[in-house]
Amino acid sequence: MTAFPSPMRLLRSALVLLFPLFVAALRAAPAPSVDERVRDLLSRMTLEEKVGQLVQYSSREDMTGPASESSVTPQLEKGEVGSMLNVIGAAETRRWQKIAVEHSRLHIPLLFGLDVIHGYRTLFPIPLASASSWDMARIEQAEHVAAIEAAAAGIHWTFAPMVDIARDPRWGRIAESAGEDTFLGSAVARARVRGFQGDGSFGGTDRVLACAKHFAAYGAAQAGRDYFTTDVTERQLREVYLPPFRAAKEAGVATFMAAFNDLDGTPCSSNPFLLDRVLRGEWGFKGFVVSDWGSIEELRAHGNVADIRDAALKAFNAGLDMDMENGAFGPHVAEFVRAGKISQARLDQAVGAILAAKFRLGLFDDPYRFCDEARQEALLLNPQHLELARDLARRSCVLLKNKLDVLPLKASGLKVALVGPLADAPLDQVGTWHAKVDKKDTVTVRAALAQLYGADLHYARGCETQGDDRSGFAAARAAAAASDIVIAALGEDVFQSGESTSRTSLDFSGQQIALLEELHRAGKPIVLLVMAGRPLLLEKIEPLVDAILVPWHPGTMGGPAIADVLTGAHNPAGKLPVSWPRSVGQVPLFYAHKNSGRPEPLKPKDPYFSRYIDSPSTPQYPFGFGLSYTTFVYDRIRVSAPTLRDGGTLTVTAWVRNAGKRAGEEIVQFYVRDRVGSVTRPVRELKGFQKIELAAGEAREVSFQLAPADLAFWRADMSFGWEPGDFDVFIGPDATSTLTASFKLEEASAVAAN
Ligand code: BGC
Repeated sequence: MTAFPSPMRLLRSALVLLFPLFVAALRAAPAPSVDERVRDLLSRMTLEEKVGQLVQYSSREDMTGPASESSVTPQLEKGEVGSMLNVIGAAETRRWQKIAVEHSRLHIPLLFGLDVIHGYRTLFPIPLASASSWDMARIEQAEHVAAIEAAAAGIHWTFAPMVDIARDPRWGRIAESAGEDTFLGSAVARARVRGFQGDGSFGGTDRVLACAKHFAAYGAAQAGRDYFTTDVTERQLREVYLPPFRAAKEAGVATFMAAFNDLDGTPCSSNPFLLDRVLRGEWGFKGFVVSDWGSIEELRAHGNVADIRDAALKAFNAGLDMDMENGAFGPHVAEFVRAGKISQARLDQAVGAILAAKFRLGLFDDPYRFCDEARQEALLLNPQHLELARDLARRSCVLLKNKLDVLPLKASGLKVALVGPLADAPLDQVGTWHAKVDKKDTVTVRAALAQLYGADLHYARGCETQGDDRSGFAAARAAAAASDIVIAALGEDVFQSGESTSRTSLDFSGQQIALLEELHRAGKPIVLLVMAGRPLLLEKIEPLVDAILVPWHPGTMGGPAIADVLTGAHNPAGKLPVSWPRSVGQVPLFYAHKNSGRPEPLKPKDPYFSRYIDSPSTPQYPFGFGLSYTTFVYDRIRVSAPTLRDGGTLTVTAWVRNAGKRAGEEIVQFYVRDRVGSVTRPVRELKGFQKIELAAGEAREVSFQLAPADLAFWRADMSFGWEPGDFDVFIGPDATSTLTASFKLEEASAVAAN
């Protein structure tokens, strides 16, 4: 009898036969793209779950203001929170992530954001300082280290870089900026984004999402008062304030943050011109935009909406995607979607961009991949990180004065008085936005100099940064009397610069000037260290001191870095990223100003020209200025051809010679002036810079390329392009260089809008 196989057996044989085909098919099918995964997830989400992705709360471990009092856990469990800020550390982030992922219906992971502005645990110099290095490679490396440390502590997203142009040192947030210049600011923006995000593939756990902030013109706050109104022309906006944002976008920045201020009458958080037309329309930005802390809610105070419902509608429809601590989108967006006042497409665009960021970070594959306590333990304050922090800090030092070569100092066998409130101030020297700082990690100037001079170091605090107390003066006098030289470490404490720290006086506060006068009476040479988050006025005290070194707030390794510079172990090469004013009355002060119709007297003694009657108009120290322990001489500038034509390039060269006795680095700067335009043009604009190293006596030819597109601007009719005419070029050590040549640009043509 022929036995037929049982149906079970048949099924099994079929499965055995088909299995390899099934596996092969699986192998052949490409993994779904991020877009496909986002679309699939969106199709499974309820309206409430979608709106939840737009919501960001702060944990109680808050650094910026009052944290949300509401208990977030029920919302996390319902999948109605997209992101948290200020949840810090591998264990903490894991705890929060677990609630979101394990309890919510769709298991969507949270995104953890934090202000990692100049480092996480290893603190680098403040951004204004690192911009003074003009060293893009090292700035990028520092942000990579910041990302490595933050990512090891569970952070996915930093609210940096701040790319606001800052031309007013009354504004405390100048400390977080790269200074006054659009070209330098754009280069720094690119370097910082690359440092945080790498190539943007987020394959490993050493990169975090970056955020270009504060969009836009936040630094143009009237009278330098933080959060205050800005009202710049569209031309100025596009020419000065937007290019660093554009540079960040081109470098692939994942997110933007809308600014607090109103701009030409519309708050930036509800500004369709900025968020929709420029950012998404003109620039093609595909990421998402987060509000600033409470900035949607603040539309009421701006007088732009009557209530928070209205604020939610206006901000969301303008193009803002995520609500940072406003309580606006969570309660109100769904209702507007149901009423048809917010389109489904707009909602899906915002939610889709947030989900895409989470997919790109690999959080759907492993929501805990950044929460690794062992990695955190191994990586924070790693010796290589500290070494880089020291290196960047010494490269950020700007030497403004060095009378009779009082610096460098002998590295031993010298009696040194170290005086001042910043000399041994572990938190103050780190400066604003210090993330996970621990004061005990900081190496102060006192600690570093004690290593060198031992018992020959005479330290006295002298006074505080604020207040009337002069009781420490006697000890300071005694220290000076016992020493060969005095180092005065003066400046600002940690609360005097950064957010909401605008000042009407740029003087050294408290009794610091009196202390310096007291030290001057001791008759010893004085080296002044300016350890601050902004330029402080030097005009009156400059004659009292022999040398001025500006380390700004130099971070964790500031002490050894300053010691390296003071003793000449490192020859300073930093250059100012801001014009240093003589008085508050001069600000805003920047080198790329217009010429005006009366730049100088028409005839001798004529008083009717653009000037002050009680001060020169020029800065105390110009943009780009900084000395070295050697001297550089510039000469023989030339252009490769008298004429530049459409499609061509021109090479501008000059010779730089190290005329001193020691090797040194120099930041060679290249400026251009457009002599005649359909609108008035700046007296000069930075168009290039190079850092070169020259041995004593060595000379080198340095060259810069120029194409017509580099000369484009927003013309009278608001088209973007260049205009034919005569141009001057300058190569030199700062913005006042007089080494100049000229060329003619021929044939007008429009180029792609900047
Ligand atoms: C600041 C932002 C910061 C945010 C979150 C705000 O007050 O303006 O720069 O990212 O707080 O801490």
